[in-house]
Amino acid sequence: MQSIDRWKGRVALVTGASAGIGRAVAEQLADAGLKVALTARRAERLEALAARIRERGGEALALPADARDEAALLDVFARIRAEWGGVDVMINNAGLGRMDSLCDGETAAWREMFEVNVLALSICTREAIGDMRARGDAGQIIHISSMAGHRVPGDSGGFYAATKHAVKGLTEALRRELRAADSAIRVCAISPGMVETEFAEVMGGPDIVEEAYGRFPCLQPHDVADAVLFALTRPPHSQIHDILLRPTRQPS
Ligand SMILES: NC(=O)c1ccc[n+]([C@@H]2O[C@H](COP(=O)([O-])OP(=O)(O)OC[C@H]3O[C@@H](n4cnc5c(N)ncnc54)[C@H](OP(=O)(O)O)[C@@H]3O)[C@@H](O)[C@H]2O)c1
Repeated sequence: MQSIDRWKGRVALVTGASAGIGRAVAEQLADAGLKVALTARRAERLEALAARIRERGGEALALPADARDEAALLDVFARIRAEWGGVDVMINNAGLGRMDSLCDGETAAWREMFEVNVLALSICTREAIGDMRARGDAGQIIHISSMAGHRVPGDSGGFYAATKHAVKGLTEALRRELRAADSAIRVCAISPGMVETEFAEVMGGPDIVEEAYGRFPCLQPHDVADAVLFALTRPPHSQIHDILLRPTRQPS
């Protein structure tokens, strides 16, 4: 295992840090010695997480924002620049699914998925790259994508799968842009299968949670955070492009 030492004292922004995967990633990055900026809508959860991190000797900033609001996202970056100088590690994790089908779903649900899963991820990526360029043209972008970005998972959730297919395209397109610019900034996606978080309840309500997470032992948020640490700790010449991470007993 390579060392996390070169990231110690550097600045990570984690979107969707109020729950699930984002919270676990933020905790592991803080434990590894990075300063962590936390964003999501639920301010009290971010404050509680920031307080826990500080109690453990880490540095954290709670910066609530709705990812659908570009001005609010830009303000998050402005606050980080003012406090810590800019972002070195961008964890694009905020995301959600809605059940709304392609045949008769609500446009508002498609728009919400697109704005959070694709557009906010792209805005945060652009802003973080600006910071990384100003801070020595290094740094790392990590998108939390999904197995749904690699195959269409079933006969529902099609729009969600389309947003994650978009993330797959954006990951490779960014890698190509950065190569063309001869940049040392790395980009990586991590594509989990079923992870036991609030995701299923947000997607389908409390009734689907047991069905979603009860069929086999699911991944836990810290399993995904481990993959983030693995990607970050590769030496500078080695770039992980994607990690497909399924529960052992997940069929598809
Ligand atoms: N769980 C799975 O099985 C699974 C599998 C593959 C990929 N993923 C991906 O993993 C990522 C994290 O999901 P999770 O499983 O940890 O789900 P989760 O527990 O529901 O957490 C989702 C996070 O996204 C944030 N978020 C949602 N809408 C937002 C908005 N409009 N503005 C700002 N933040 C928003 C939520 O914060 P607030 O509600 O406080 O705003 C929350 O912190 C997502 O991109 C998801 O697609 C999950």
